[in-house]
Amino acid sequence: MLAIRHVTRRFGETTAVDKVDLEIAEGEMVGVIGRSGAGKSTLLRMINRLIDPSEGEISFQGTQVSALGGAALRRWQRDCAMIFQQFNLVPRLDVLTNVLLGRLNHRSTALNLLSVYSREERLKAIAALERLDIAQTALQRAGTLSGGQQQRVAIARALMQEPKVILADEPIASLDPLNAKVVMDSLADINAREGITVVTNLHTLDTARQYCSRIIGMARGSVVFDGAPEELTREAVHRIYGGEGRAEAIPEEITSTSIDTPLRPQGEQPRLEPALAG
Ligand SMILES: Nc1ncnc2c1ncn2[C@@H]1O[C@H](COP(=O)(O)OP(=O)(O)O)[C@@H](O)[C@H]1O
Ligand SMILES: [Mg+2]
Repeated sequence: MLAIRHVTRRFGETTAVDKVDLEIAEGEMVGVIGRSGAGKSTLLRMINRLIDPSEGEISFQGTQVSALGGAALRRWQRDCAMIFQQFNLVPRLDVLTNVLLGRLNHRSTALNLLSVYSREERLKAIAALERLDIAQTALQRAGTLSGGQQQRVAIARALMQEPKVILADEPIASLDPLNAKVVMDSLADINAREGITVVTNLHTLDTARQYCSRIIGMARGSVVFDGAPEELTREAVHRIYGGEGRAEAIPEEITSTSIDTPLRPQGEQPRLEPALAG
């Protein structure tokens, strides 16, 4: 279990994350939603230790993540793969090498310096690319790929880490609807088949509803909703996206579809590919 206890992060006068308490069980697929500036990225980045909390603690399976350093911290960052909106590949390196970079924290510094990868690692990298249906791009420079392909490379790289948790920060915000669907389907498939916990920030409500069994809504650094998609009522949506008090308009782009599926009626189960549903 990933436990976030009373976690606060301040940047100068700004409190980006304000006393957040959350428990995320192994194998959950969690969507974090909220307006821009609500604290979603800061929360994910603290879990991965890209930044440190000002207060509170984060633990995973009983180990205090917020206290790790050195090799133990690198192990945690291997166990906890990160996917970014802008993919964060090395554009001038080929796709296969980018995926192999997912092994960095598995190997000795000497091997990394020499860029020596075993046959097994290369086969594993190709298998990951095949799973994402982009093996044919293996020898292309990553920077020449489309955004959708680059995000699939980033997911293949994450898989190479053999993570226990995948944190995705708006993984589809820069993608067209078709690629957005491919990327979300892949994350759902990894979650369903490998049981890897997925926590993903999402900028549209319908994607969170469609893919996540649990939705966390953030506003002004706090968790203002935590529940199943069915529980996300109009009132809850307003708590997440609405202004303070008065009935401020909820921006259209938040609820509009980035993936072309209608909103589910209340009570219906999240849609999964039939092969994954069991
Ligand atoms: N590195 C930083 N330095 C200063 N302020 C930051 C930094 N990162 C985030 N913030 C501020 O913290 C708040 C939450 O930001 P963020 O976590 O990026 O929100 P979200 O991902 O929900 O859009 C915002 O007010 C943002 O300006
Ligand atoms: Mg963000």
